[in-house]
Amino acid sequence: MDDVPLKGNNLSEEIFMEEETNMKNRRSTNNKLIIGGIVGVVAIVIIIVVLVVTLNNGEEDPKEEPSKKPRSLLDIEKLKKYETPYYYYNTSLLNETIDEALRLSKLHNLKIHFSLKSNFNEKIVKIFASHEEIGADCVSGGEVNYALQHFTPDKIVFAGIGKTDKEIENAVDKGIFCLNVESYEELENLNEICQKKGKKMNFATRINPNVEAHTHEKIVTGLNENKFGIYLEENETKFYDKIYEVYTNQGDKYKYLNFIGLHFHIGSNILNFTDFATLCKKIDKIVDKLNERNVPITYLNLGGGLGVDYNEPALNPIPDFEGYFNTYLTNLTCLQKIGPNYNNNQNITLHFELGRSMIAQSGYVISRVNYIKEGIEKKFAILDAGMNDLIRPAMYDALHQIERVEINDDKTMYDVVGPICESSDVFAKNYTMDRLQKGDYVLIRTAGAYGESMASRYNFRDLIKGYLDYEF
Ligand code: LLP
Repeated sequence: MDDVPLKGNNLSEEIFMEEETNMKNRRSTNNKLIIGGIVGVVAIVIIIVVLVVTLNNGEEDPKEEPSKKPRSLLDIEKLKKYETPYYYYNTSLLNETIDEALRLSKLHNLKIHFSLKSNFNEKIVKIFASHEEIGADCVSGGEVNYALQHFTPDKIVFAGIGKTDKEIENAVDKGIFCLNVESYEELENLNEICQKKGKKMNFATRINPNVEAHTHEKIVTGLNENKFGIYLEENETKFYDKIYEVYTNQGDKYKYLNFIGLHFHIGSNILNFTDFATLCKKIDKIVDKLNERNVPITYLNLGGGLGVDYNEPALNPIPDFEGYFNTYLTNLTCLQKIGPNYNNNQNITLHFELGRSMIAQSGYVISRVNYIKEGIEKKFAILDAGMNDLIRPAMYDALHQIERVEINDDKTMYDVVGPICESSDVFAKNYTMDRLQKGDYVLIRTAGAYGESMASRYNFRDLIKGYLDYEF
């Protein structure tokens, strides 16, 4: 027994060492586990503490935090400065919108005319006019005179199917950039007026291209059944012959008329860009035909029409100018063509008359709840704003998003209506929104275009006013 083989000793030793190593490893693993466990427990405790603190902070318990203000879309204290209802304009968003439109227009050498009909609040118009790249699009003598107060004449265009002699005379006298002529009759009238005055005038012809626009039927303008523009399909040759006659000043009859190009506007609030692509095909054909007669085009006015997101205005505050402009730039082949039959076409400048897309999302109606009235099956939220202040829902079945200014997340369904004595004075039917009570402030979104400018005094109400955010 004394003679324990060395190898055995060695083996024991080896086993010992091996065990020792295993133990060390186990001990270190255990230590790691213990340390890890402690760290884990500490982490869980920290997470629980953070969660409890956060949840407590999120709780709206007026007893615990009496001074805590409810979440608010706009500063309610500031809104109280003016009597409701009124229009409120967000100039930061407006400037962002203008910047985006101008960024692209400069990139592609496009000209933008702001459509005064969409909003002629003087403070808004001044913002547009402060950008020298922006001109004005007018559809009445009143708009032309108003535009002349803010824009230089060379940036003003004037369309409209029923221009009076007085309106045309004024436009000629003031030397505005271009008159968009909407019929052969108007063309002859303009010629007579220019002859009498001995003054030369740029003009374009507005064409009715018979292109369907996917929008509300009351704002479609480019179909044969609409009253706008010259109906080309009626007699195409008549049109080309007439323009040739004027351009070449046959019989010295048209020496005061300067034909510069074509004008189109197929409708408004169009989000389906294939409508514009279809228009491009028609335009190319007309430009081709004029070129065949060696009549060059330098001005292509494509109107407005770009739609905005009425459903999710907060998600899409800036319209898709890029997609809109690109649709024209990529589809209009006349822009690319040069050659014997396309002389001067490389000089075509695209003009746009943008209204809605420039201003719609920057304007809100601010209104207060007069009553919550329990109907038989419905609850009516009766606002102090009515269809005379914002006529779009009554006139075009438009749905503008309506929100309680102070958010309470307690949803109720209402018919949101105005106080006017008309059943059509409804802003939204079966509309789920934050619970309302008398006196609450609400805002109606996407109201910057065709809102204030279409307001009336119906029911002998005061004409609604508009304020810009810096006036609060
Ligand atoms: N150019 C012409 C010749 C127009 O008639 C119009 C609008 C525009 C440009 C500007 O189009 P926009 O960029 O805004 O689409 N009150 C209706 C909209 C009527 C549009 C009349 N013409 C509404 O509230 O939807």
